[in-house]
Amino acid sequence: MDVNQAIDIIKSVLPEKRFLHTLGVVKAAKQLANKYGGDINKVELSAIFHDYAKYRPVEEMRQIIIEQQLPKQLLNFHTELWHAPVGAYLVEREIGITDVEILNGIRYHTTGRPNMTLVEKIIYLADYIEPNRQFPGVDEVRQLAEKNINQAVLQATKNTIQFLLEKNSLVYPDTIDTYNNLINKS
Ligand SMILES: [Fe+2]
Ligand SMILES: [Fe+2]
Repeated sequence: MDVNQAIDIIKSVLPEKRFLHTLGVVKAAKQLANKYGGDINKVELSAIFHDYAKYRPVEEMRQIIIEQQLPKQLLNFHTELWHAPVGAYLVEREIGITDVEILNGIRYHTTGRPNMTLVEKIIYLADYIEPNRQFPGVDEVRQLAEKNINQAVLQATKNTIQFLLEKNSLVYPDTIDTYNNLINKS
């Protein structure tokens, strides 16, 4: 799929602010792909479509999770997590992208998972550090991303888990597994 065509599609389904966030993710993801040797075209398409399902009604997402046999345990966690796996499904069905690496970049951009591929790490990290993001700890992750992608993914995951613990929120198992997996590797 042509990148400009993809940008036009995503612009039509996202509000302005989320579209600008998406452009930031595309920029950050391309920089990471250049640095770490990822496939630029796959990374770019995955970044463009990563939030494709973000504004789908919760009930539509719930139905897709059930009917398409996406992980059932998603239903017991915050609906904020649903747009990633549902997005991967809808981007395949509605946009016609079938490349598994592109789709998995979308699928795991919120929770992470153990043994992420390079494309998955890039999208996960780009979503966290893109230039419009401003929150405590983001600069530390940006600096780590310049040096070591695994350390950056680990730090972003630690920050996310800490943030969730402080809110007394649930932590999705894939996120804990991402943390354990990277601790084991470091
Ligand atoms: Fe997202
Ligand atoms: Fe995002």
